[in-house]
Amino acid sequence: MTAPSSVPTVLVGVHGHGRWHLENVARATRAGVPVHLAGICDTRPLTDQQRALAGDVPVTARLADLLDAVRPGITVVSTPIHTHAELALTAAAAGSDVLLEKPPTPTLAAFEQLALDLAGTGRACQVGFQSLGSRALPYVRGLLADGAIGEVLGIGAAGAWQRDASYYARAPWAGRRSLDGVPVVDGALTNPFAHAIATALAVDGADGVGEARVELYRANPIEADDTSCLRLVTARGTTVAVAVTLCADREVEPYLVVHGTRGRIVLHYRPGRVRLERGGRVETTEHPATDLLEDLVATVREPGRPLLVPLAATRAFMQVVEAVRLADEPAEVPPAHRRTDRSGAHPRAVVPGVADAVERAADGLALLSELDLSWARAGAAAARG
Ligand SMILES: NC(=O)c1ccc[n+]([C@@H]2O[C@H](COP(=O)([O-])OP(=O)(O)OC[C@H]3O[C@@H](n4cnc5c(N)ncnc54)[C@H](O)[C@@H]3O)[C@@H](O)[C@H]2O)c1
Repeated sequence: MTAPSSVPTVLVGVHGHGRWHLENVARATRAGVPVHLAGICDTRPLTDQQRALAGDVPVTARLADLLDAVRPGITVVSTPIHTHAELALTAAAAGSDVLLEKPPTPTLAAFEQLALDLAGTGRACQVGFQSLGSRALPYVRGLLADGAIGEVLGIGAAGAWQRDASYYARAPWAGRRSLDGVPVVDGALTNPFAHAIATALAVDGADGVGEARVELYRANPIEADDTSCLRLVTARGTTVAVAVTLCADREVEPYLVVHGTRGRIVLHYRPGRVRLERGGRVETTEHPATDLLEDLVATVREPGRPLLVPLAATRAFMQVVEAVRLADEPAEVPPAHRRTDRSGAHPRAVVPGVADAVERAADGLALLSELDLSWARAGAAAARG
């Protein structure tokens, strides 16, 4: 039984990351949050397991049909990046608030248009940057405001994950910069490690960024980047440098490092773990996160209540997406500097030494081409902001 005031919620895109949303709605309902799954939209059929998890809710291939049938209070959009704007707007125009996956759109122009169109509907839109719901963020910002590490010299970020060929084979848009002429911008910086950029900008508190220098590389046979870095200066004058890879020889859980004149703060944004290093002492704290769906439910019940990650707060991040979109195409890591790991179910491209490299980049606020990496020096893409 759901409470009478429980917010009916539909999920658009149930495969891939949508599976997490399906479980998250069920978790929230079980936890007593006034929200329940009321329908699913996907262009592909559900698996038996998804059907069992979903229960007896309507499933449609067209969002408009589901909106007609269900009249949801919340629509969760977890579909390919280039489909976000249209689906989010369709939901909002039908009177639903929206939880939209990141990145909100593939281009800055589409973002501005979506922001304008959504404003016209009066509906709320929360963007799925979970790390921005973490209490670690106000904690770190408080430390910085108190001068805990002195003057901020810059913010570095690094992450190294291992993704095999099945990651790129799972969907036609995976690893593409565009699909059938439509921008997709599915690179390491803009999709899997988008949280690193968004969290760095949120720590700084910047509402915009200046020109970004972007370097894109690829070790996989894909169009987009799987190994990349950027450096920019925010509107507040802070240097932010991010280096990431999906071709890791060793996994590095993504983190930010705020360099200060009297110490540094390392933020592992996924678990919300903060390590404050100053005066030869280290203090580690863990901070819980508010679930972004639960936060949106609270706003549905109390219209006008501020969201944790409203669409407007992601504009600076979208400027970075735009810089990546406009950067030169990724340079191939030469065969001599990559190998293929065939020990798993699917082959996996590996760039030996890349995990150390992204960490060194974050440490020195450096671009990969500024390190002693012959493949990066040879192939640095010219950058435009
Ligand atoms: N917040 C996070 O940590 C996180 C993690 C992974 C992915 N994501 C985001 O989630 C979104 C989905 O990513 P994914 O990797 O699961 O993609 P995917 O391609 O693997 O899955 C997308 C799903 O949407 C469905 N779909 C596609 N077009 C549709 C349409 N027009 N109407 C209805 N359904 C449609 C597909 O059939 C599929 O079920 C992306 O925006 C991605 O960036 C976020």
